[in-house]
Order: sequence, then C-alpha cells, then structure tokens
Amino acid sequence: VTSNPIEQLEWWQHDRLTYRGGSLHLGNRDLTWIARLQRHVPAFVYDIQQISNNFARPKAAVRAAGIEGRYYFAIKSNRHPVLLGHLAAQSVAGADVCSPQEALYALQCGFREADISYTGTAVTDADLEVTARLPDMWVNCDSLSQIRRLGALCPGREVGIRVNPSTGLGTIHYGGEKSTKFGIYRSEFRAALELARTSGLKVAGLHWHLGWGFDFSDASALDKALTECRWFVDQVQDLARINIGGGLGVPLRSDERAPDLEAWAKTIARHLRGYGAKICFEPGTLVAMDSGVLVMTVAFDEVKNGRRFVYVNGGFNLNPCPAFYDIRLPIVPVTLDPAIASDAGVWTQAAVAGNINEAIDVFAEDVWLPPLHEGDAVAMLFCGAYGASMASNHCMRGQFSEYCLV
Ligand SMILES: Cc1ncc(COP(=O)(O)O)c(C=O)c1O
Repeated sequence: VTSNPIEQLEWWQHDRLTYRGGSLHLGNRDLTWIARLQRHVPAFVYDIQQISNNFARPKAAVRAAGIEGRYYFAIKSNRHPVLLGHLAAQSVAGADVCSPQEALYALQCGFREADISYTGTAVTDADLEVTARLPDMWVNCDSLSQIRRLGALCPGREVGIRVNPSTGLGTIHYGGEKSTKFGIYRSEFRAALELARTSGLKVAGLHWHLGWGFDFSDASALDKALTECRWFVDQVQDLARINIGGGLGVPLRSDERAPDLEAWAKTIARHLRGYGAKICFEPGTLVAMDSGVLVMTVAFDEVKNGRRFVYVNGGFNLNPCPAFYDIRLPIVPVTLDPAIASDAGVWTQAAVAGNINEAIDVFAEDVWLPPLHEGDAVAMLFCGAYGASMASNHCMRGQFSEYCLV
C-alpha cells in the first residue's frame, strides 16, 4: 500500500495504540511486558476501554439522527468472558448471539435474558428447545421451517423474521444475485408471514445483515440497500424493532477510511425512523476489531530463494481473517528502537508465515519490517474481532492466551 515503511507505522496509531519509549502500548499497557511473559504461546490482548469508546461513536451518531437505538454486541466476533462481563455490567450493549450455546454463554457472562437477541442459522429442534426455555430472549427466525416449529413450541411468542433483500454491502456480501443461505427472500416472505399467523407467532420485528466491512465510499449503496429492505418493512404492521445487523468496517490499510457514522445514521433515519420501531444494531467489527492485537514470537527471519520470510509462533488457525478472507492485517514489531523507527533504509519487505503446515498459512505477503531476531516479538493489529473466537486446533497449534486490559 505504501512504499514508505515509516508511513506504514503511522496511520493506525492513536492514543490507545501507539509506540512509547520504543515499545508498543495498547490501552497504556506496555506490550513488551506481555511479549516477555508469553514467549511460548501467542497472546491476544484486548483493550476493553477502546471497545466501550467504539460503541459510544455510533450511539452518538444514531442519537443525533433522532433514532431510538438498541445495541447488541455480536459475540461471535469476540467472546472473552471478561470483555462480555464488562459490556453487560456497564450496560454498554446487549448480546447478539447466533447459536443456543452462545445464548447460554451470554447469560453466564451476565447479560440479562431480555438483552439477548438470537439470530440462528440451520436451526434444529434441539436449538428450538433452548429458545423455548428463554421466553424473554428475542428471536429472529431465518427460515419457514423455524417459524413453523417455533410456533408449535411457543404459540403467541413475539418474534422477528430475518430477511434477505438480495443485496449486500461491503467486501463480503450476505445477499446478491446468487441466493445465500441467510434469511427469507421476497419470494417467500408473504408465505412466511402467513405461516407465522397460522402457527400462532406474532411478527413484531425484522432483521437483516447485509455484509462485512462497509465504509460508505459509495454512499448510494446503503441508500439502495435500505430501499430494498423497506419493501419488507412495508409488509408488516406494528413493528416493535428493526434490526439492521452489523457490517460496518474499520480501516485496515493506510488507503482505507473509517465509515462516516453521521452520514450512515442520517441515511438510516431517513429510511426507517418513520416506522416508529426501535432500530437495533449488532456490531462486531466496528467496535472490537481495533481493540485487540495478537502478540507472537519470531521463530526466525530468513531469506528463501531470494524472498524474505519472517516465521512466527502462531498460524492462520489463530486468526483466519488473512487466509480465509484475504483480509491482510498490519504486523509490526513490539519493540522498536526509535533510531530504527526513523531509518527507512533498514526496513525490507517480508512475508510473515505461521507455524501450520498449509500453504495458505501466510499472514502477510509484503509487509515492511526491520531486521528481526529469533525470540523478538511482533504484533498483528486489528485482532480484537474474529481472531480467538474463530481459532482452531489445526496441527495441534491451537494454544494461545488472552489478556483483557481493563
Ligand atoms: C447476523 C449478524 N449480525 C451481526 C454480525 C456482526 O457483523 P460485523 O462484525 O460485520 O459488525 C454478523 C457477522 O457475521 C452477523 O452475521
């Protein structure tokens, strides 16, 4: 993105994530300390205050646009119990859950049943039984089958329907020309409403989630998507809530920009305020992604066939974003001598490779790094969402620690 290694170090730094005295600090804590403690296994480090701060920004924009909002943290993005306990205890947000297991876990972390919103996929009878035991939890039904079976189990329950407006936003779309597995499409929507009626459910909410990583570089895209969504809204009387999912992105490279939250909220207000429903938001990425880093130890730094590789003690199984979605995250040294930080001449481009025996296990292809030594620490930034929560034990390399800075 930039051919200047020093510039590459600048764009992501802010008050709570910055170099001080040659060490990377997150939320005022020196990551060198964690790197020393954690040389044996990688460590995710989360800054809880940053997550709370990140929630404050969309909330302010939504309030200023005259919308009554409700907020649910998408716990699939990060389910560290200290973090969730903090969000619940401070009433920062409720919990957006996508499985009965997540629902029960959210309760264990301190969320009230009424502050949980459940939007599942491939819902089985066993899943529905848990739903039935939680009558105050909000449920968005994602299929005709779920509506029919939930109606039989919980007649009279108020529910939402997850819809798919056949359009998406951002870099990963949940709707488009090809049908996806999510939500109920226009073609089945009237049947869904009729089925809900005959099954004894009251449809009092709608839900949609359009994609991942949108930033409003194309402002008309949200406008167009919400126009499609309103078709569904117009079919239902007396909606208590309209849940517009998550999907807002954060800049992950120097040439990306943060979403204009004021413009975003105004567009939502223009389309949805008039219906008198509460507007619900369930962000993950926007609030959590820049609140965490993954600290890893350098195994060695070596040139292979003319190409520099920095090998680290973690792999794509700990943060699948680069390998699965080609979402390339910045990787920086944890300790950085100020003389090296200002001497572009000693930095060269490297591929950063993990410790999994798979060709896709390369975190970065051409990141600028100073010379690194065996045992040095590097931090992969923007690992506060969809890192630890998606980790696997591939090659039995699944061990990691998590530190929550409160
Ligand atoms: C239904 C639903 N809501 C919310 C989210 C959170 O999305 P994001 O992390 O893009 O904000 C997701 C992510 O997959 C989702 O599927």
